[in-house]
Amino acid sequence: MENKIERLQKYALEEIKNAKDKDTLDTIWRKYLGRKDGTLTKILRGIKDLDKDQRPKVGSAANTVRAKIEAHIDMRGKSLRQGQRADKGELLDVTLPGKHIEFGHLHPSTQMRERVAQIFISLGFEILEGNEIVSDYYNFEALNIPQGHPARDMWDTFYIKTRINADQIADQRGYISVNPRSNQRKSALLLRTHTSAMQVKVMEEREPPIRVCVIGKCFRHEATDASHEHTLYQIEGFVVDKHISIANLIYTLKSFLRSLFQTEVKTRLRPSYFPFTEPSFEVDIECLNCNKSGCSACSHSGWMEILGCGMIHPHVFKAAGYPKGAYTGFAFGAGLDRLVMLRHKIDDVRWLHSGDLRFIKQF
Ligand code: PHE
Repeated sequence: MENKIERLQKYALEEIKNAKDKDTLDTIWRKYLGRKDGTLTKILRGIKDLDKDQRPKVGSAANTVRAKIEAHIDMRGKSLRQGQRADKGELLDVTLPGKHIEFGHLHPSTQMRERVAQIFISLGFEILEGNEIVSDYYNFEALNIPQGHPARDMWDTFYIKTRINADQIADQRGYISVNPRSNQRKSALLLRTHTSAMQVKVMEEREPPIRVCVIGKCFRHEATDASHEHTLYQIEGFVVDKHISIANLIYTLKSFLRSLFQTEVKTRLRPSYFPFTEPSFEVDIECLNCNKSGCSACSHSGWMEILGCGMIHPHVFKAAGYPKGAYTGFAFGAGLDRLVMLRHKIDDVRWLHSGDLRFIKQF
């Protein structure tokens, strides 16, 4: 009897293995396990007629085989179902190309910031970011723009409401720019409107010769449009030493522009006014868009204004505590966003801070 059961298992498993579809599996199930006349069912049913000592052995053998056949039918059914899905292309196909993982990249403004920093490093400048929150003193007064001076209108900004004054915050935090020797006890805190706010702070902390380039964010209380943003990046360079002249300023700017645009760029120096430089200039470059023939980017003049500069005003040196007449120096300030726009021919500055992926992904 036990041999019979063993043989039966062998045939059944063989048939299950070869079954090609669910119907065949059902037939096999009925053939061996069918309630009425399944081969194994009959054997199980006949156990009661066997000799007493035979019954447990045969019973357990038959039950084991029954469980095995059921499990194999189950497994084969599953693999047939998967096979069908594979035919429909649903099964994992390791030869298919993988999912594309997107890599990020640096924002065009960051790319430009790094490029500008590299150029100034090569010219012997030290790069600083400086503080974004500064006192009224550093942003205005120390730069020869006292309270009520009309030039303040050009740099209107966001003031910070605090119940403690600037000096107390400086003591607690250490990183906010407040003049340690000042009697500006009530000096308001504000978001810097220009990187020039770092000039006197740096001069207070160092002895000339100084060659510093501040690249960082500035803020303005501005109605935004295609060429104005409330948050902008500026590049500020200043050099202080004995016998620094306008020639040094022009040479530095030309070297910078040549490295930046990888070609000799024609420049034009125009007299201008800033309270913290004397004399002051504005520098234009030949319009790179239209090659000087006139286009909307240069207001049909063929020239584009790109930075303000000049020789550091004696009042600024005085604020820094330098002895009268001991040093001279130059300073310049350029908009980094402007350079990014020029380089990539971007027509609206607001794209830069928009976070719009359709824009960002183009660089
Ligand atoms: N800080 C000036 C501005 O924001 C630019 C400037 C910097 C001009 C240094 C002269 C010297 O407009």
